[in-house]
Amino acid sequence: MTTLDTASVRTPPLQTKLPAVGTTIFTVMSALAAETGAVNLGQGFPDFNCDPKLVNDVTAAMQQGLNQYPPMAGVPALREAISRKIEALHGHHYRAADEITVTAGATQAIITAILAIVRPGDEVIVLEPCYDSYVPNIELAGGVVVRVPLTPGTFRPDFDRIAAAMSPRTRAILINSPHNPSATVWSQQDMLRLQELLAPTDIFLISDEVYEHMVFDGQTHQSAARFPGLAARAFIVSSFGKTYHVTGWKVGYVAAPAALSAEFRKVHQFNVFTVNTPVQHALAQYMADPKPYLDLPAFYQHKRDLFRAGLARTRFKLLPSEGSYFQCVDISEVSDLGEADFAQWLTREIGVAAIPLSAFYGDGFDQRVVRFCFAKKDETLIAALDRLAKL
Ligand SMILES: Cc1ncc(COP(=O)(O)O)c(C=O)c1O
Repeated sequence: MTTLDTASVRTPPLQTKLPAVGTTIFTVMSALAAETGAVNLGQGFPDFNCDPKLVNDVTAAMQQGLNQYPPMAGVPALREAISRKIEALHGHHYRAADEITVTAGATQAIITAILAIVRPGDEVIVLEPCYDSYVPNIELAGGVVVRVPLTPGTFRPDFDRIAAAMSPRTRAILINSPHNPSATVWSQQDMLRLQELLAPTDIFLISDEVYEHMVFDGQTHQSAARFPGLAARAFIVSSFGKTYHVTGWKVGYVAAPAALSAEFRKVHQFNVFTVNTPVQHALAQYMADPKPYLDLPAFYQHKRDLFRAGLARTRFKLLPSEGSYFQCVDISEVSDLGEADFAQWLTREIGVAAIPLSAFYGDGFDQRVVRFCFAKKDETLIAALDRLAKL
């Protein structure tokens, strides 16, 4: 046996596949908020607990011994419950057997859909500002990211620019409504326009609908499931984390036509295989009652209104918040700083953490807007507003 020359011990150099990816702004701002004792309205997660019934249901499932691998596509009862919900809300039937797959949150659903359909060199259209996982996911699949800005100021989709970005190499387009970070909601007209645009093409749609139950002022969530021309080409993604205040449980799902679901499951099988068993059983039981998700718009609209009423007394200019649990504000009357510096200053000096919108653009576009998350206890929002009142 030869002895190892310790001088030769080395870690091989690694060429990163994702050179542009560093620590996310969400982690940075949450760490700064913790360090400075700021009220954290940065990262998007509730600071209140979920329904204790849900926790009891998970505990009961564990105690019943439901602790081993579930079926690869998800616990059948949960897939049935998802299928019934989509049909009741949007009038489109997805077969639980081969059109619904339970995932480890929306994040895994999105990367799995992308890996299933995007081949090296394929173009994928993203609408900026966009959720931070989309671009690295496309790059990992070897795809080419085609960035189309939402209309500056209003964040509405600009269909002329989307049409101009479409090419024979376009494999997919990613949309997100209700939208993180802008809190806009696509209208029925928007979805019809998209349906019309995609009709003559073979472009797939990945529709990120994680905030589907947070739509305000009596509007209806326009799921891609409602539009046959979109549903036929769509991977619809949702997240129980958002709907039931359990972001740490990381359970979501994808609904897609059988042929697309089959490809999706091939990738899913070898990147997660299966998702947490007792949580799936508990969710299946909990979903029998539609009240929790039907009550969600009013629950969050109250928080939005409380937060907006307080912000209206500051010099921030409030942007509309039609859906999601975010509120964006224009900072130009409050400060001369750029967004990122302003977010740091706000955290350190005023004691409230926010996220600069530039974090959602590839080129760091700065339009003097920051995002607050109002998925917080009323007292947390009131504490933040007390601090913001000086602005
Ligand atoms: C637009 C959007 N998509 C996807 C996700 C990820 O959801 P999950 O926690 O279920 O992975 C989030 C979470 O913040 C989001 O805002």
